[in-house]
Amino acid sequence: MTTLDLRSASVLVTGATGFIGSHLLPRLLRVGARVSVLSRDPERARRAFGTEVRCEREPDRLAADAPQIVINLAGAGIAERPWTRARRKVLLDSRVAFTDALRTSLAKAPPSVLVNASAVGYYGVSESREFSEEDGPGSGFAAELCRRWEDSAEAFTGLGTRVVRLRIGLVLGPGGLLQRMKLPFSLGLGGRIGHGRQWMSWVHLDDVLGLIETAVMETSMTGAVNAVAPNPVTNAEFTRTLGRVLGRPTLLPVPAFALRTLLGDMAEELLLSGVRAHPNRALASGYAFEHPELEGAMRAALGRGRSAA
Ligand SMILES: NC(=O)c1ccc[n+]([C@@H]2O[C@H](COP(=O)([O-])OP(=O)(O)OC[C@H]3O[C@@H](n4cnc5c(N)ncnc54)[C@H](OP(=O)(O)O)[C@@H]3O)[C@@H](O)[C@H]2O)c1
Repeated sequence: MTTLDLRSASVLVTGATGFIGSHLLPRLLRVGARVSVLSRDPERARRAFGTEVRCEREPDRLAADAPQIVINLAGAGIAERPWTRARRKVLLDSRVAFTDALRTSLAKAPPSVLVNASAVGYYGVSESREFSEEDGPGSGFAAELCRRWEDSAEAFTGLGTRVVRLRIGLVLGPGGLLQRMKLPFSLGLGGRIGHGRQWMSWVHLDDVLGLIETAVMETSMTGAVNAVAPNPVTNAEFTRTLGRVLGRPTLLPVPAFALRTLLGDMAEELLLSGVRAHPNRALASGYAFEHPELEGAMRAALGRGRSAA
C-alpha cells in the first residue's frame, strides 16, 4: 500500500484545542510534522501548544502555507446543551459552514488529503441492525448534521483532495465522557439509561488517533471509515462494565421520562437510543485496534489496572 509520510509534512488541524485534537497535536509534533492550527482563540491555542505551532483564527492566513494534510475536527459540542433551534444552527454552522469556508480558503492550493471527523450518528438509531460504511444516512437531527458535514467534506474531492470521513463512536480516553460519568458511579448512583438495550459504539482515544494517522498515510483509504472498536455493547453492558472497573454498584436506572423531559430530542437520539456500527474498512485496511475490548479500554482510559481475580 502506498503511504504518505507524516514526518516533515505540513498539517493543518482544526478543533485542535478539543478532546481529540489536544491529544493528536503532541503525536504530530513528535513525528516531526509542521503543524498549524485554526482556532477561534489563537492566543489560547498558542499557550497550549507553544511557539512551534502556528495558530490563526482566519483560514486565509494559513492557506498561504498550502498545508498538505488537513485534519478537520472543529465543531460545537453536540451534547453540551439541549438542541433548541438556535443550538441546532450553531451545531450546523460550526461544522458545515465552517468546512465550506475552509474549502474556499484552500481552493488555490488544495491539500493532498482531508481527514474529516463525523460520527456514527450518521446511521440514525436502531436496536436491531448493525451498520457498516456502505449503509446510507438515517433520520433525526444527529444523522442530518453528520450527512451535511460529510457532504461538505466530500466536496474537497472536486479540488483533487483525497477525503476520509471518520465516523467516530463514543470516545473513551483520559478526561472526556468517562470522567464525567465517574462521579455519579463513585457515589453509587450509576445505572443503565432507560431500558439499557440501546447500542453504544465506543472507541478508545488511542485508536481514534491511530485511525487518523492511518487515514493520512494509507493513500488507498478514501470515503467513510467507521472509527469504532470491533465490539460495541448495549448501554446495560457498558454500565455493568464501568461499575466493575470502578468497583461500584450500578443499581439505579436513569428513568427515560426524566431525560426526555429535560433534554427532548437530544435525550432520544444520544442517550435513549443508539447505533451498532462495525469497523469494516479499518479492519480491511489491516488496522489492528489497540483496545478492542471494552473493559481493557475503560481501564486504560481511567488509569485503572486489572484487579486481582
Ligand atoms: N469525542 C467524541 O466522543 C466524538 C464522537 C463522535 C464525533 N466526534 C466529533 O469529533 C470532533 C472532535 O471531537 P472532540 O471531542 O475533540 O470535540 P471538542 O472537545 O468538543 O472540541 C471541538 C473543537 O471545535 C472547536 N469549536 C467548538 N465550538 C465551535 C464553534 N462554535 N465553531 C467553530 N469551532 C468550534 C473548538 O476549538 P477552538 O475553540 O480552538 O476553536 C473545540 O476545541 C467533533 O467535531 C465531534 O463532534 C467526537
